[in-house]
Amino acid sequence: MIKIGTKAINTNVFLAPLAGCSDLALRLICREHGAQFCFFEMIDANSLIHNRQRSLRLIKTLETDMPIAAQLLGRDPEILLEAAERLISLVNITFLDLNCACPVRKVVRRKTGAYLLTDQDVLSKIIKKLSAALPIPITAKIRIGYAKKDLKEISETAKLIAHSGASAIFVHGRTKTQGYSGEVDYESIKAVKDAVRIPVFGSGNIFNPQLAKKMFEESGCDGILVARGALGKPWIFKDIETYLNGRNPASISMPERKATLKKHLEYLDRYKEVKDAVKIGFMRKVALWYLKQFAHSARVRGGICSVKNYSAMLELIDNLPD
Ligand SMILES: Cc1cc2nc3c(=O)[nH]c(=O)nc-3n(C[C@H](O)[C@H](O)[C@H](O)COP(=O)(O)O)c2cc1C
Repeated sequence: MIKIGTKAINTNVFLAPLAGCSDLALRLICREHGAQFCFFEMIDANSLIHNRQRSLRLIKTLETDMPIAAQLLGRDPEILLEAAERLISLVNITFLDLNCACPVRKVVRRKTGAYLLTDQDVLSKIIKKLSAALPIPITAKIRIGYAKKDLKEISETAKLIAHSGASAIFVHGRTKTQGYSGEVDYESIKAVKDAVRIPVFGSGNIFNPQLAKKMFEESGCDGILVARGALGKPWIFKDIETYLNGRNPASISMPERKATLKKHLEYLDRYKEVKDAVKIGFMRKVALWYLKQFAHSARVRGGICSVKNYSAMLELIDNLPD
């Protein structure tokens, strides 16, 4: 159990926000395998207030997909507030996160995402405005720095975020410049933890239960975000819980992997509101996540990439060796 502002949450292991990945299908399959709290994909504040179809599709959810948090991308406090109010009127979110972590060039060029780490006046204004005006807690997801590691600087940034009214901080243990590769810096996450009294979550390389334990131990964080580690391995949530309770997780058999992949594809087929050609492209991507772990995967991957429709995909999976 963890408290974020006024909200008590049953778990301190969350599915991270993953643009292009943490859609309803991924969240449902993760929840069936032990995830108790998830994020929607990141939502662009501007798009949301202009009612763009894509943003509205991102917040498609179900009763079984609760509790959940949302993350907004933006920099204008007024627009972010309007988007947040719209969001709250449409879906029941436990808290709202501000993206200060995205390193993508297009995002940073618009002075949003990780750029906000370099623009502390704006960062503070946004958090003050949202936390004063909204009925739910506000959090921030940050990186350990923009271009380089600097323990003093990240501690100051964390304090500013907390003093501006945030109720938790999520820290991806890499700089903006590192993108998604390279070492995760536990020391910087620990510096954030030591700087503030609000809960701090660690993120980065949570690919198995051992690395989850390492994140808790090395950074002293209060919770963790599982990101790429959940793609093709939704059972990682149960495995982490088992391992943190001192037991070794059971290995997942091939028939179980296939059944989980088929269920995931079924959710995509049912809930993904996109054209058929786009949907099959998405199904291929998801199948490849799972197939990385299958024997003979190079040959099988080739087959997946040329599959033309859902039924052919299912047939291919059924014919995989157990
Ligand atoms: C495909 C992809 C999409 C992501 N989208 C977001 C996002 O929208 N918002 C965010 O704060 N972080 C996003 N992240 C970062 C993750 O939430 C996480 O912090 C990061 O991947 C580090 O964790 P990992 O090394 O365990 O994957 C994304 C990461 C990936 C790989």
